[in-house]
Amino acid sequence: MILWEIARATGLVAVVVYTLTAAWGILLAGRGIQQPKGALELHRSLQTLGLIAIVTHVAALLLDSYAKVEWTAVFGIDSRPAIVLGAVALWLAIALPLSFALRQRKRVSFRLWRGVHYLAYAFWASAIAHGLWIGTDTRNPAVLAGYGVAIALVVGATAWRVLGGAPPKSSRREAPAA
Ligand code: HEM
Repeated sequence: MILWEIARATGLVAVVVYTLTAAWGILLAGRGIQQPKGALELHRSLQTLGLIAIVTHVAALLLDSYAKVEWTAVFGIDSRPAIVLGAVALWLAIALPLSFALRQRKRVSFRLWRGVHYLAYAFWASAIAHGLWIGTDTRNPAVLAGYGVAIALVVGATAWRVLGGAPPKSSRREAPAA
């Protein structure tokens, strides 16, 4: 039972941390804030923290007998669509930092990296949908309100960026910003 509790807690931590990662990344990319020293590092550190939370979440669920999660679920093989969404989120959470590392080593083009990085929106949405759908704690009004705040934050930041947060094309940098 303790493993199940760890799994639930780390799932929620992952959603909180990735919501902050996404909102911060959108602000940085849209130049909503001056990029102080360490701004990009904060984005990457939050992402690392989120990944640790996800790995703990999945490992705890696999080790726990109560949750009844088979190892095949890690690859999206499960009859519950909410679990498949979780697996999609898991692999996207791995692909995103991997693409950044490859870009840093100049193994992939900036264009390809940026294309992959846009999947961060799909990742965040699938993580939110997965948690809302399957989470025991979704029944808790405070947790539900937390999901509402998270959605408002990322949707708001995205809307701000789309509606003019982004700088003119000519001033965009040719290096990964997030
Ligand atoms: C293969 C990957 C994954 C599997 C098999 C999986 C499985 C599960 C299961 C079975 C639950 C229900 C736990 C309960 O009884 O409440 C759950 C809840 C949850 N998961 Fe995942 N998950 C995966 C990936 C992820 C990822 C990548 C995230 C976040 C980025 C995430 C976030 C959450 C959240 C927030 C909850 C709700 C916790 C609660 O309300 O109790 N999961 N997951």
